[in-house]
Amino acid sequence: MLTKKRLRIAVQKKGRLKAVTDNLFTHCGLQFSQTKNSLVVRCKNFPIDLLLVRDDDIPVMVIDQACDLGIVGENVLLEKKLARQAHNKSFAYQTLLACEFARCRLAIAMPALNAGSDIEWLQARTIATSYPNILQDYLAKNNLDAKVVDIAGSVELMPSLGMADAICDLVSTGKTLEENNLVEFATVLQSQAVVIRAQTQLSSSKEELIALLLRRFRGVIKAQSSKYIMFHAPLSSVDDITALLPGAETPTIMPFGDGSRKAVVHLVAAETVFWDTLEAIKNIGASSILVLPIEKMMS
Ligand code: PRP
Ligand code: ZN
Repeated sequence: MLTKKRLRIAVQKKGRLKAVTDNLFTHCGLQFSQTKNSLVVRCKNFPIDLLLVRDDDIPVMVIDQACDLGIVGENVLLEKKLARQAHNKSFAYQTLLACEFARCRLAIAMPALNAGSDIEWLQARTIATSYPNILQDYLAKNNLDAKVVDIAGSVELMPSLGMADAICDLVSTGKTLEENNLVEFATVLQSQAVVIRAQTQLSSSKEELIALLLRRFRGVIKAQSSKYIMFHAPLSSVDDITALLPGAETPTIMPFGDGSRKAVVHLVAAETVFWDTLEAIKNIGASSILVLPIEKMMS
């Protein structure tokens, strides 16, 4: 049973964003009882209900205060904003957190045989997209006069069907473009998932719950991009090694007890550590290097 007393969060029902939001909630310690095909999911250990909706509907649900929070891609948010503004409707919301996940870009792509053309190639062409407002805005800013065809899905098929000369769609890995023999040539927007709310004040219990959720969200996001790194090194090399590790915090240095001038070093790096970094620190004296995932962080 839905009640306004419980915090309502609008999330994507199915799709790529769904998997990452599920992962976020699980790591935050929220437990849900979900029955198949349910559109409302009740949290068992907090007064929270998840509303499972189409991602295009999330911004309006939050702005119209049907839901207290929403987790949605910036691409969808901007498209809705431009659409509402085109009809002189207000679009007031607040972004509480950039999630740094579900990163993708909205890009214009053309058939591979036109690869290498410049942006002027778009002049008087037809472009298929599910983001007509963002695309129109981009075209206007670049003084391009192209025809925009609004398509709900499978946009990448349109050039081969003869329905468009180019497309403007989301690109994550680039696999869909490649499969459809399309090449990317302009980025229209970089996007990630964000947590949004309406600008109205809520009850103090809801405000407290939002503050708790945001603390946990931040902790999970930080933990997932951070790594715990342990290695052995000569004491004289520790500073140089630490300098090579991205986003490294002050290391804990435990000297060996054998008078060898070597130490065990532990530290947290705030970014993903790649193989070339490990090879570089090995070259200047690190050995027995371990890189471990971090489950939770709180400072
Ligand atoms: C999205 C997007 C692209 C594809 C890009 O579609 O519209 O088609 O993912 O991802 P890639 O670069 O990793 O291949 P999605 O599968 O979410 O379905 P939809 O177009 O029906 O929304
Ligand atoms: Zn798609």
